[in-house]
Amino acid sequence: MAAESNRLERIQRFWNEQSDWNAHVAIYDSPDVRDPRKREEAFEAAGELDARRLAGFLHPSSRVVDLGCGIGRVIRPLAGLCREIIGVDISTTMLDKARSYLDGLPQVRLVHTDGASLPSIEDASVDFVYSLLCLIHVDRRSAYRYLREIERVLRPDGLAFLEFQNILSAEGLAKFQSVVEGDYPLELYTLEELRALLGSVGLEILTCHETAEYLHLTVVRGRRDAWMGAVSEGISVEGLEATGLFAGSDVAGDGALRARLASRLPRPVTLTLSTGWVQADGTARFQGRGLLPLDRGQERQLGLHWDARGRRLAIELDGEPCSGLETTVADVGVPGPSLLQVGLLPPGFAWNQASQESFPQLFYSRELPSVG
Ligand SMILES: C[S@@+](CC[C@H](N)C(=O)[O-])C[C@H]1O[C@@H](n2cnc3c(N)ncnc32)[C@H](O)[C@@H]1O
Repeated sequence: MAAESNRLERIQRFWNEQSDWNAHVAIYDSPDVRDPRKREEAFEAAGELDARRLAGFLHPSSRVVDLGCGIGRVIRPLAGLCREIIGVDISTTMLDKARSYLDGLPQVRLVHTDGASLPSIEDASVDFVYSLLCLIHVDRRSAYRYLREIERVLRPDGLAFLEFQNILSAEGLAKFQSVVEGDYPLELYTLEELRALLGSVGLEILTCHETAEYLHLTVVRGRRDAWMGAVSEGISVEGLEATGLFAGSDVAGDGALRARLASRLPRPVTLTLSTGWVQADGTARFQGRGLLPLDRGQERQLGLHWDARGRRLAIELDGEPCSGLETTVADVGVPGPSLLQVGLLPPGFAWNQASQESFPQLFYSRELPSVG
């Protein structure tokens, strides 16, 4: 026990020193973050990019935990999207800096951990846990204790988004080889190991996204099949009406798509609307994305409008511009057939074949004839 607490104290000292040396670089190392003239802006932009990836997991009523929050790089852009966000970290100096970086955000609470537990967070009280660039630095035993803690604090069917380093990728292996001589904390896994470790504590992988060196896992507390079944039966799209471009009838003109979204899920959920008008060469004439929060038992009216003359795509929810809205419109089109797609993605799901097969009622597409 004494050896264990010495080890965790050593880890805390390491991260305190990292934070004193240069918290921004210790947290998110990139050429721009190393450059003092670009540091603040690049650090903030990286936080916003990660927040964009996580926003679809949050609902305005959500209670969220950021495990290994650092100074709150990702908490800052996410705080306004949820009811409460709890940042947990082993380093007292990181937490001190987080207090100032997150100053004025009433949703934020910061908690110090011994390095393997989620103290003062009650059982089954959290809707979503995420951990970026943290579990890769945590030794396996402590990481396993965190997985048990995540299972403890999540509500049944609650979700977590966890980032691990992949030992089977060339980049992951190279990173491992670069640290074997020293004591820089780095832990790597295979997907199968993670599946087994998660399964043994009552968590199941819902989706896995592999990048060059990372494994990004969305996990559910409980059974994957039950979660998938509840979402595919509990969310419906009713009264769909499409005109003009969205019906594939007037490709050069305006168009609209209207539908009622209804949720019979036992808890709130946010869907991410993703739409694109994609040409045969793979380039998009427009792309759009918006967040659609749905309460339990709620019905909401979704509207998409394409204004061909003004070259503008609008996404509305109950007649108001949608939050999390990002649209891009390309100026030129190449002649040839194209595809108009609208998809409603449940948390953690990307637009791919597997998502369309799992939730066919949430996807709509039209092949469009040649446009000049
Ligand atoms: C590379 S930083 C990432 C910070 C933040 N997640 C982000 O992406 O901006 C790693 C963070 O994990 C924290 N950390 C390392 N080991 C930890 C542990 N066992 N428990 C909790 N936090 C830990 C460090 O103090 C540090 O703040």
